[in-house]
Amino acid sequence: MIEELTHIEVEARDLINGATDLDTLKAVDADLLGRSAPLTAFKKDIGKLAPEDRKDAGQALNRVRTAVQEAIEVRRNELEAAQRAHQLEDERLDLSEVLTRPQLGHLHITTQTWQLLEDVFVGMGFTVSEGPEIESEWYNFGSLNFPPDHPARDMYDTLYVEYGEPGSTLLRTHTSPVQMRVMENEEPPIYTIAPGRVFRQDTADATHMPVFHQIEGLVVDRGITLGDLAGTIEAFTTAYFGGSFTSRLRPSYFPFTEPSAEFDILMPNGEWLELGGCGMVHPSVLGHGGLDPEEWSGFAFGFGLDRLALMKFGVDDLRELWSNDVRFLRQF
Ligand code: DAH
Repeated sequence: MIEELTHIEVEARDLINGATDLDTLKAVDADLLGRSAPLTAFKKDIGKLAPEDRKDAGQALNRVRTAVQEAIEVRRNELEAAQRAHQLEDERLDLSEVLTRPQLGHLHITTQTWQLLEDVFVGMGFTVSEGPEIESEWYNFGSLNFPPDHPARDMYDTLYVEYGEPGSTLLRTHTSPVQMRVMENEEPPIYTIAPGRVFRQDTADATHMPVFHQIEGLVVDRGITLGDLAGTIEAFTTAYFGGSFTSRLRPSYFPFTEPSAEFDILMPNGEWLELGGCGMVHPSVLGHGGLDPEEWSGFAFGFGLDRLALMKFGVDDLRELWSNDVRFLRQF
């Protein structure tokens, strides 16, 4: 009988360790220790043994039962731990996305160009001025020597705003009205630039947009000459584009400057790039700004900013700047 018990114990351990989940283990438990289990039956059999054998058989039976119970307990703990680990793994939330940094954007290339231009002029001692985008006819035209019905107004496809007298209020067509606002509000010497948005009634194409950007420059001081204007344009050209670039002035016409010129940049590839207009501030414009033209003289210039952004970043269509397509913007 003791031999048989030993055999049962060995088999029982195999069954217990072979159980790979708790349900199987429960069934094994019932088979080994339940009512109809051989170990249970042995208990009854002990009564049939000779009295002197009962003690040993009883002890052996108890030892095996206990061993089997313990083995089941150990295995149950193992399986429960495994099940918990499995459950934890299943319920694990992947939070790694939260830990990765959100994508950072960057300034638009027009803004980058704008800031770079400001930096160059601030480096040359200029301040930065601002004016309103919705302007009066006086600041945009009248004060700048464009009399009503003057043909030069036709150069600007003006967008008027329904406000006040018809034709009295408009979206500024250039940054030049800021010249007047600065002269009214500041005492010379004035060395300032005014970058900003301007508006014209234009159909969008590769080189035109109804909204674009200009940067205006105004210098008013004693004894300012055309030489100062040419020198400033040249200093700007080499500071912004680099030493291999140079500039030239060509005679032109603007009502608010006399003489007036257009300035071009000579690029290292030998091509001239038309950049903007400039000239000596017209005496009557100084007068409109409250300055005595006998005492003060000055020069002004203005040019488009968007084309510089295109050049700098190698983009060939102005409309791209407004497309707001992150795949395009992300490249810069
Ligand atoms: N405002 C002019 C335009 O938009 C450009 C310009 C020409 C500005 C001559 C100036 C200047 O300051 O002196 O066409």
